Amino acid sequence: MSAATRVSYATGVLALVAGLGFAYAPRQAQNQSPAPRSTAAPPDYDQQIQDYAAQLLREGKQTFRYATFGSEDFWGGKLRLHEAILGAKLGGVGGGVSPKTALTLGLKVDAEALPAALVAQIKAGQVNLDDPATTVALLKLNAVVGVTGFFNPDGKLRTIGIQCALCHSTVDDSFAPGIGKRLDGWGNRDLNIGAIVATAPNLQPFSDLLRVDVATVKAVLGGWGPGRYDAELNMDGKAKRPDGKAAATLMPSAFALAGVNQHTWTGGWGTVTYWNAYVANTQMYGKGTFFDSRLENASQYPVAARAGWGHKRDNVDMITSKLAGLHFYQLAMPTPKVAAGSFNKEVAARGETLFNGRARCSSCHVPPIFTEPGNNLHKASDIGIDDFQANRGPERSYVTSVLRALADTNKIHKHGYYHDGRFTTLRDVVNHYDNFLKLHLSETEKADLIEYLKSI
Ligand code: HEC
Ligand code: HEC
Repeated sequence: MSAATRVSYATGVLALVAGLGFAYAPRQAQNQSPAPRSTAAPPDYDQQIQDYAAQLLREGKQTFRYATFGSEDFWGGKLRLHEAILGAKLGGVGGGVSPKTALTLGLKVDAEALPAALVAQIKAGQVNLDDPATTVALLKLNAVVGVTGFFNPDGKLRTIGIQCALCHSTVDDSFAPGIGKRLDGWGNRDLNIGAIVATAPNLQPFSDLLRVDVATVKAVLGGWGPGRYDAELNMDGKAKRPDGKAAATLMPSAFALAGVNQHTWTGGWGTVTYWNAYVANTQMYGKGTFFDSRLENASQYPVAARAGWGHKRDNVDMITSKLAGLHFYQLAMPTPKVAAGSFNKEVAARGETLFNGRARCSSCHVPPIFTEPGNNLHKASDIGIDDFQANRGPERSYVTSVLRALADTNKIHKHGYYHDGRFTTLRDVVNHYDNFLKLHLSETEKADLIEYLKSI
């Protein structure tokens, strides 16, 4: 190589580096002089992505667990639910809610929020679990999952607000039944939200909204039972199915939704972030902004049309800024791992072949997301059930459920399968498909298929 070539080669490389500018030699350049502002992609954009992901995860978890979105102005402020917790002795109404009663109603206690001294006292049997004052103390510690107490300077419970975690978290019972480490995203199928709300001293706001008397409101709430809630009642006013049973659905889990389009039982509403905004604004009665012109359709959603849910704009917005983190956190929740030894691998492998073959399950439940990539909705007639609940959604359809943590023994499937728990066990589900799809599965094949479902 001649000296001249060497020079021009070196200059060429320099020119190349200069041309790439900052995409090429970012870190050093940054340390030496401030980066020019005009580049489309700052050199540390990779890092910005990482940081943003970490920030969203942090914020989302905080929101999911602790954000009340201003709902305390409704649950305490209007319904006066905190007075029912306090009981007359503590300045509220009625007998109050003791920790024992709260646990019976399916409320959960976050063991990690309990100070060591209190844990020791509880273990020594020195804490009165029949006294509403103990519930108030737990609220003060922010230890009741999904419920936050707000206190006056004098320490009196002033109001309460609710969180996503109320219905979509449970605990691992590691301390005692109902007391343990949080399991975010797990549908709380013990929670009797209807019975809890029915204790509120003032149910007039629901009576006004639904245009029925307070006794009817109470009867509807009392008819839901544990693990169920009706997220469309204050839109369409349909409290009962044609067979007279409560129209409430089971609490679904909120995990395993990354990569999934339509969700919720009926779907057609929108993506996960649509639903988060829907719930925070219209179900939790948080303060925010919400838009959906479909809710102005008075023939399908008469209550929503009257209430103006389709174009809600409160004077403060405590929801919109939290949507990104909330969305991200939810999508980060995986299906909980199945415990080793809880299913037979060999049998499950035979079941998997059936699932993807002759039993036709994977024609809808496509692994590994276990729902259809794309528009994962079906008419009731595609799965051989009635269309009552489907018709309450904007697309009059059912979502192909994401199959997750399915074992009958799993607490997230307590009260059964399908939107209303009509099938008590996985065997009932498989029998239904066997009849409806005319699969002619043998008893051994059914058992194989069930073993595979348990492994998902
Ligand atoms: C009062 C109980 C309750 C509260 C509080 C609640 N949800 Fe739900 N959630 C439900 C019920 C019931 C459904 C099923 C609704 C349906 O399909 O009609 C549901 C459905 C969902 C789904 C769909 C799950 C799936 O697999 O299809 C997501 C995601 C979700 N909720 C997230 C949230 C978030 C985020 C919050 C807080 C902003 C929240 N929920 C607050 C009861 C609740
Ligand atoms: C035509 C599409 C389709 C086919 C085929 C299909 N499913 Fe489903 N599956 C659905 C829909 C839709 C739901 C939701 C029903 C509801 O919301 O009530 C569902 C729900 C379920 C559930 C309940 C999930 C839960 O969380 O409660 C299980 C379990 C299930 N299917 C298993 C199977 C098995 C096993 C097969 C094969 C034998 C199968 N499915 C075939 C569409 C389908």
